[in-house]
Formats: sequence, structure tokens, C-alpha cells
Amino acid sequence: MIHLQNVTKSYRQGERSVLACEVRELRIEKGEHVALIGRSGTGKTTLLHVLAGILRPDEGTIDIAGRRIDTMSESERDRFRGQHIGMVYQTFNLLQPFTALENVLLGALFGRGASHAASQRAKSLLERTGLGDRMHHRPSELSVGQVQRVAICRALVNDPEVVLMDEPLGNQDRSTGGQVLQLLLELAREGGKTVVMVTHDPDSASRMQRTIDLATLRRHAS
Ligand SMILES: Nc1ncnc2c1ncn2[C@@H]1O[C@H](COP(=O)(O)OP(=O)(O)O)[C@@H](O)[C@H]1O
Ligand SMILES: [Mg+2]
Repeated sequence: MIHLQNVTKSYRQGERSVLACEVRELRIEKGEHVALIGRSGTGKTTLLHVLAGILRPDEGTIDIAGRRIDTMSESERDRFRGQHIGMVYQTFNLLQPFTALENVLLGALFGRGASHAASQRAKSLLERTGLGDRMHHRPSELSVGQVQRVAICRALVNDPEVVLMDEPLGNQDRSTGGQVLQLLLELAREGGKTVVMVTHDPDSASRMQRTIDLATLRRHAS
């Protein structure tokens, strides 16, 4: 489902270029649930953005769901992401003027379209994540943990084959975080979804099928 080879991504900083992410090889099977770990600054967010097609790698090949995304144009990658990938950003990226429900439906707009079915699915996801009575609240009227759950619903509204999550439970209390992760993994199993979750929480990592430490994927692994 996911196969990376010899991928590097650097950021330009004035005259200098900073190597942010390096992966010799990474293979993740369809339906696999993987925890991605590594110290702060080791390139976890960069790798997720490369997988999502938000960033294009400097080198290397990326196959996702049978397609080479490293050779696609930006607009092709955007379309591909809308149809196949659900992304939960580390900074959530909800749009402030819109309600929780509208934010989730915006996810549908970039994917399968904001149909009646999408609206039903959006409401059902918000209810199942405990936000049934917060659908018409704006992000500024929600707690950080609630905003995070809205971002998770938005990532799932298109029923994507691949779900990428950047520390999605970081601001949840233990029991809410456990419930949201359980729901997420249930939905993923029902749909045969492939899940890659960046996490610092050993409990969360232990509920995934495999844990990958980013440091071990480098060409000269440390
Ligand atoms: N936009 C950027 N411009 C320059 N350097 C960046 C940028 N984003 C991240 N970096 C650097 O790239 C490295 C990897 O960052 P990141 O992928 O966010 O790591 P992680 O998510 O593992 O904490 C860090 O050293 C960070 O300082
Ligand atoms: Mg990060």
C-alpha cells in the first residue's frame, strides 16, 4: 500500500539546506496500523507531509495505493490526497470562521463531494467521537482536545484508504484519548484502512500492529 525508497527532503534556510527527513526504505502493507516514533525534530511531520503529497521529496520514489506520487504535479497530488488520504495535522488546521460540522464537510468537498451521504457521515463521526452537541460550535468555542477530534472526523469523512495522523491524541485526557483511538482503529479495521500515526505515547503505540522508529530508516541508521 505504501512503499518509499531512497527518499530525502531538505528545507532551504537562506543559503543553507537542512536535511529534515531521510528514508532508505519503508514498506507498509494494506490494512496495517503503524506507530511512527522518533525524537522531536527527526522528521516525523516532514515524512507524513511527503506521504500525503503536501511536500514533494528532493529524491526518491513513493508508491501509495498503486500510484507513484513523487512524479505527480502539485494539483495531481492534491486530487490524489482528496480521494485516497485522510490527514490529521499536528496543528489541526481547522478553519476558524466555520463550525465543527462545516469543517468536517470541507474535508468532503476536497474528496468525494459534499453530498447528503457525506453530511450524514460527518454527523455520525462527530457523534461517535463525543461531539454530537458541539457540531455547531466554532473552533474557538471548543477545547483543544475537541478541536483535535474534529480534525480526526475531517480526515475520516471521505472514507480514505490511508489515514495519516500527526500526534492526534496529544491533548486528550487518557480515557478520551483511549476511546478516540479505539474508535479510529475500529473504523480503520472495518474499512481495511492503512493507518500511520505519529505518537509519543507508549500506550497508543502499543495498540498499533507495528512501531517504526524513524532513526532506523536513515541510510546511515544511528
Ligand atoms: N519549514 C521549515 N523550514 C526549515 N526547517 C524546517 C521546516 N520544518 C521543519 N524543519 C526542520 O526539519 C527538521 C524535521 O522537522 P519535523 O519534520 O517537524 O520533525 P518532527 O515532526 O519529528 O519533530 C527539524 O530539524 C526542523 O527544525
Ligand atoms: Mg512533528
